[in-house]
Amino acid sequence: MSFPKSFLWGASTSAYQIEGGNDRSALWDWEKKKGWERSGQAAGSWEKFDEDLKIIKALNLNAYRFSVEWSRVEPEPGRIDQNALERYVSWARKLGQEGIRPFVCLHHFSEPAWLLKENPRGWLDENVSGRFLHFATRVVRALSPVVSDWVTFNEPMVFLVGAYGYHQFPPGRWMLTDARKEFIPILVPNMATAHKRVYRMIHDLQPHARVGLAQNVAAVEPAHKGDEEAARLWDWFMHRNFLDLVKGSQDFLGLNYYTRIFVSKSKVPWMPLGTLPGYAELEKGMTRPVFRLLGGRRDGKPRTGMDWEVVPEAFGPLVLDYHKAYKKPVLILENGMAEPSQVTREEYLRGHLSSLNKAIEAGAEVRGYFHWSLLDNYEWGSFRPRFGLYTRDRRPADGADFYAKVAANGELPHG
Ligand code: BGC
Repeated sequence: MSFPKSFLWGASTSAYQIEGGNDRSALWDWEKKKGWERSGQAAGSWEKFDEDLKIIKALNLNAYRFSVEWSRVEPEPGRIDQNALERYVSWARKLGQEGIRPFVCLHHFSEPAWLLKENPRGWLDENVSGRFLHFATRVVRALSPVVSDWVTFNEPMVFLVGAYGYHQFPPGRWMLTDARKEFIPILVPNMATAHKRVYRMIHDLQPHARVGLAQNVAAVEPAHKGDEEAARLWDWFMHRNFLDLVKGSQDFLGLNYYTRIFVSKSKVPWMPLGTLPGYAELEKGMTRPVFRLLGGRRDGKPRTGMDWEVVPEAFGPLVLDYHKAYKKPVLILENGMAEPSQVTREEYLRGHLSSLNKAIEAGAEVRGYFHWSLLDNYEWGSFRPRFGLYTRDRRPADGADFYAKVAANGELPHG
């Protein structure tokens, strides 16, 4: 089973999750406040890029996605740290010299502490969009000689729901209960507008650039008969709405796929939009009978270390569906699993890549696949889930050799 010749085989990471020592990010104190395991030195990548590059080469990758940490580049409002910026430039240059295409993400969940002090309402305040544009412009000016592929936001909806919906990220609001008041009409459009402004800025500075975002897409299913409308609403809210708002301002459609969720009509009025997504996180926060009572559902699929169901068969059809709906070349910017898992990484990769391959045969224009993640990293509160092809001390994890073979040959070896 082979993939197109020019296919990109990559891995993705994010600054806060691997660099370590990002003490100017709003997340740094947030970790303390939440009582999370501390990110500390994470995977130490701020000091170890050359080691990371060795791994990227050992895996035979021809693309690598990393993010630029806003709080490093702009540690105080308006003050740019040239050294920090230069370090990112050098990473992208070294990648390019090895024939590895750098994809640079400008916002991956982490924001400077000063930003939220200055704007306690965060993205509800339009000023934040201006601040982001300013930061992004400085990054693009510096990196554009060596980078042409840009991801503005990683998973804008996952971020907004986490930060403004259920107190997972700073500023830590609980706004989903009245999502129709501010969340849907103000918060989401503010971030979509920021994307569009950055999209235009990049094309002004670098006309040949390719710009998109990474949208988290789950396969959504109604939990029970009668839940079809709830499922459709959740799918619109989490996935389609943002993509619709930025229509015309994406050169590629970046998708992150991990699992499926069941959605049911909520039986409690405080549930967002009257729907209950059956996330593992929610399930864990309540006893199983309460989860069932609220309409949650699970099937007997194997689970990963995140307790997410492994559903490769839904992946290809979903990619085809999004490609048809948005008519842009697709890049899978994240897909992967956390150990300890009930399937091996090789099984996970085989399942998802063959499903993706079928979508390509059926007409989906897919340009590349980025595995999450290059290294075990800080999974927003804990190091326990291990997503890496390599460990934090740079030893290959189970399945790394398999992915290296796939990337070298552009095909799935016979099982
Ligand atoms: C995020 C990553 C995260 C991964 C696994 C994605 O939603 O972009 O930051 O580590 O999922 O949870």
